[in-house]
Amino acid sequence: MTKPTAVSLSVVRRLPRYYRFLGELLKGGCNRISSKELSEKMGLTASQIRQDLNCFGGFGQQGYGYNVQALYDEIAKILGLDKQQKTILIGAGNLGRAIVTHLDFSHLGFDLVGIFDNSDELVGETVGSLTVSHVDSLSEFCHENSPVIAILCIPKNAAEALADSLIELGFKGFWNFSHYDLAIDYHGIVVENVHLGDSLMTLCYRVKNNPSNNS
Ligand code: NAI
Repeated sequence: MTKPTAVSLSVVRRLPRYYRFLGELLKGGCNRISSKELSEKMGLTASQIRQDLNCFGGFGQQGYGYNVQALYDEIAKILGLDKQQKTILIGAGNLGRAIVTHLDFSHLGFDLVGIFDNSDELVGETVGSLTVSHVDSLSEFCHENSPVIAILCIPKNAAEALADSLIELGFKGFWNFSHYDLAIDYHGIVVENVHLGDSLMTLCYRVKNNPSNNS
């Protein structure tokens, strides 16, 4: 595998989808797939898939296609899923609990090591396999455990108020559900903002403008 140089974010954003499809193929017992078949399953062109994978060295063989397990393993390595980044979650409310309960963090490359909230009612409760700690203990926790990723499931004003200290504590990446965009104020940090409402509004537009919808 060659070292990727300046791979575009749109290519990176397609990798998890490749990984998911390949995982499904493996579960179904498929060990080999042509780029044409893969492209049909994924709704992409075969040339798009080749171009994407060529950013990392290309993995197909002319006349053979792709070895599904090998490609799955390579994409896992490219994404860094084997690294197990130490991660904490702040905000053990409805959203935070749903995330902790429903996502398989270790499979996705993250080691969830702490959950924090500022509500005395929630501190001490068990969510998933972890006990909720008070956010006041975050600094001490970080010095002892050095987490690098923070998942923010707190309101916008709380995220804005905490941002300085989180940057000082050495967090390198944020999975941000709060509606405060850290990347605007803190350049150079990596933020994945998630706005479920944006996806829903995109759906709204697409339904409204769907040419096969005659009504
Ligand atoms: P929630 O009210 O159930 O949970 C918020 C939790 O954050 C509470 O447990 C609260 O005690 C805690 N909290 C507040 N300030 C804090 C602080 N300074 N330090 C530590 N913990 C603090 O709300 P829910 O439904 O879990 O949503 C959380 C936030 O995510 C909301 O602000 C909501 O607007 C946002 N949200 C974003 C979505 C998105 O797609 N980006 C989707 C749904 C909610």
